[in-house]
Amino acid sequence: MFLIILIVLAIVALVYVYLTWNFDYWTKRGIPAPKTKVLFGDLPNGLTRKKHLIYDFQVIYDDFKGKTPFVGIIQTRDPRLLILEPEVVKDVLIRKFNSFRNTEFPDMIDTEQDPLFAQNPFFLKDEEWKEKRAEITPAFTTSRLKALYPLIEDVSSRMVKYITNESKKSDPFDARELSAKYTTDVVSNCIFGIDAESFTKEKPEIREMGRKLLAPSPTVIFKIFLVESFKFLKGVIKIRFMPDDIKDFFVNLLQQALKYRKENNVQREDFLDYIIQLRNKKNISELEMASHTISFFTDGFETSSIAISYALYELAKNKRVQDKLRVEVNKHCDDNGLLNFETLNDIAYLDQVFHEALRLHPPALLTSRMCTETVDLEHDGKKVTVEKEKNVFIPIMQIHYDSEYYLEPKSFQPERFDDGALKDYLDRCVLMPFGAGPRICLGMRFASLQSKAAIAAIIHNFEMSVNEKTQDNPFIIDPKEFLNFKVGGLWLNFKPLKKE
Ligand code: HEM
Repeated sequence: MFLIILIVLAIVALVYVYLTWNFDYWTKRGIPAPKTKVLFGDLPNGLTRKKHLIYDFQVIYDDFKGKTPFVGIIQTRDPRLLILEPEVVKDVLIRKFNSFRNTEFPDMIDTEQDPLFAQNPFFLKDEEWKEKRAEITPAFTTSRLKALYPLIEDVSSRMVKYITNESKKSDPFDARELSAKYTTDVVSNCIFGIDAESFTKEKPEIREMGRKLLAPSPTVIFKIFLVESFKFLKGVIKIRFMPDDIKDFFVNLLQQALKYRKENNVQREDFLDYIIQLRNKKNISELEMASHTISFFTDGFETSSIAISYALYELAKNKRVQDKLRVEVNKHCDDNGLLNFETLNDIAYLDQVFHEALRLHPPALLTSRMCTETVDLEHDGKKVTVEKEKNVFIPIMQIHYDSEYYLEPKSFQPERFDDGALKDYLDRCVLMPFGAGPRICLGMRFASLQSKAAIAAIIHNFEMSVNEKTQDNPFIIDPKEFLNFKVGGLWLNFKPLKKE
């Protein structure tokens, strides 16, 4: 018995030593660091999921901002660096990109297990990332986006009809759900050339599959935790994100889309057309084609629908901005109440509204980089050496709310970006909804196009107000999600506007 107790104690002691081994990693190097808790590290919500992880970053940011340009933190037992100063953010994302080329996601994904993630630059590193990013970048040229615009317009007008009909019931709409219907239809149309029928079907299959694709199961989450905490398990524990039914669904969808296009001799300058050209040029396999289409789908629909829903919510809350935007949009509409591709991009105030909503509610709350070559970061006489393979966090959300860069940071004021100031905020890396540098969001222009088209169509046709069903005091970000979803939805009233 005594021996058993001794063995148990020895194991507990070993685990304790293992878990706390790195706790003085930063203080030994003279880098300010919070007081770390065993097992939880400095990001307890990452494990408990009681609150969204971003609230842990908030506590650290509030404690250290202004005192140091970077804080050393521990995630479970792993030392990581949290950057607090935009100038250092610029170093990491842009100026010293060679030392921060990768993210940590490629190490989590095994492209043999999950071949359908293999073409997504988000999950790739080094030369493979460079190659795939270059391969897919031409899919987002101005001429291709312009060619996609009629498809987007078509979905916008279906959305307007849907809201008009549904608003007769006087029930509020969840802007989240509404925007997700819209982006699901736009993205399915632009990629697979199919109508997902989100505005007529209760639960379109493609949306359900898309949702499952982005919602890792509890087993996957647990495996990630294990691999993150015990690095030696990497390679031993295989993480597979995409179950077979989802994989088969998307491969099948692609096969049907290809068959339809061939049999009906369809010529459309959409994403599928681009992938077909890629196949003809580079002889890529059907699985690779499916992987490309899935990348567009996963990256394209959820992030943009979050962006649209928050923009609508902020407009509904701020009648002055809503009225001003309506005047601006109406000025640019043709006799049928439509905007063309060029004018949509020309409405500066719409761009400002879109970015101000992204500032307050960035769909991706943070980003990160993996150090690829040991490098020094310096600011204000303070220096840190970031070792190879250490991860660096950029707290997008906290920088967006910092009163050092934004007057009344919590209020929705698109005018702060007047007279071309938007570019300056982006250049200074104090506004980063799409990240920055060579790994900046690849679909940024497509995302802006589909989002602005939806916002303009709605503002032209409806007056919005916030329904009392929306609980936003306090405003809580859903801890179960990685992206920025508000708990309880965003319930809005839509009143059709009478047209003269
Ligand atoms: C409003 C909508 C969107 C937001 C806010 C957004 C935001 C982001 C952010 C923050 C990153 C990381 C950038 C960094 O770390 O510097 C990213 C990467 C990426 N995004 Fe988006 N995104 C949006 C829509 C889209 C769309 C529509 C697509 C494609 C159709 C897309 C494709 C990608 C890809 C492929 C990457 C990885 C780029 C790389 O690592 O080289 N995104 N996005």
